Amino acid sequence: MGGIYIWGTGCGAGELSALLPERVEISGFVDSFPMADTFMDKPVLLPEQLKAAEPELVLVSARASAAILSKCQELGIERDVLLFTKNSVRLEDMNISYSAAQKLLGADTVAALIPSYHAVREPMKKYNSPLSARDYENDYVRIKTLEAVCRRLDSVPGAAAELGVYKGSFARCINALMPERKLYLFDTFEGFESSEAAREKRLGNLSEGVEAAHKNTSLNKVMSLMPNPASVRPMPGYFPESLNGLEDVFAFVSLDADLEESTLAGLEYFVPRMAEGGCIFLHDYDSHEFAGVRNAVERYEAQHGKFHALPLCDVNGTLVICF
Ligand SMILES: C[S@@+](CC[C@H](N)C(=O)[O-])C[C@H]1O[C@@H](n2cnc3c(N)ncnc32)[C@H](O)[C@@H]1O
Repeated sequence: MGGIYIWGTGCGAGELSALLPERVEISGFVDSFPMADTFMDKPVLLPEQLKAAEPELVLVSARASAAILSKCQELGIERDVLLFTKNSVRLEDMNISYSAAQKLLGADTVAALIPSYHAVREPMKKYNSPLSARDYENDYVRIKTLEAVCRRLDSVPGAAAELGVYKGSFARCINALMPERKLYLFDTFEGFESSEAAREKRLGNLSEGVEAAHKNTSLNKVMSLMPNPASVRPMPGYFPESLNGLEDVFAFVSLDADLEESTLAGLEYFVPRMAEGGCIFLHDYDSHEFAGVRNAVERYEAQHGKFHALPLCDVNGTLVICF
């Protein structure tokens, strides 16, 4: 009993574990929607199992901080054992004390973990939306922009697609906002291809933790999250081989492959097939982490000319490319 837990089993959890000193042993992970029983060789608990584990410290790597806080309150988990590391969508710091974390991790590590910036959360005009507060918490600016863009795509013909689906959280929003539109989901559903990942690791554009975290998904779990599965066309496998000669026209594409060659392959395939009025959301364009994404854009633009595009000030710097 006791010990340190990380809440979340996504790439944020992978990044966070990489920031911890080697002497710090993680007892396990916590996730409300676990993909598997273990993550990074440690057990994954449901929130309901956490209280009995008597955690000394829970490092919250997931962004759904409000939902996690209220779940912990419901479960009777003391607030001062929680350290929120990603509450970047609200003005106030949700942490009420750093003392448990400082005792177990040291002051320098805690300083590296706590959020260093806060984006203002201004309410937009209210529309009826199929999305939930949890969807917005993942990245308020990106999801609200998606919602606004989808309202303008009604008259644009073509399918939607995502290259880089992972656990399906953004794909779920696309599918909810455009229930009737065909949605192709391209992913290996087993993480990055190993030789491409090895190259990006050599270049310092990918960490071991982020690579390991991306193996933690499955097509079945992703499909179970889709609100309108009849519109979804899963395309498992390594892109572009997974296209298998597919020809279609696209109104909306989310490119979120993280790595340079896959992003470039995505641009080469989708850009010539975009409908007029359509758009591509290219995630991580302004990310400090995945430098390969911007390299891919620069290589594509050097050959084909500059995009008409608008960079977003969302969590990872999405570029919205307009056609
Ligand atoms: C950052 S994740 C996607 C996150 C997702 N869009 C979301 O918002 O939750 C990147 C994903 O891209 C996938 N990926 C990268 N390159 C790929 C390729 N060439 N073919 C198939 N999947 C690829 C990885 O397997 C990984 O799941």
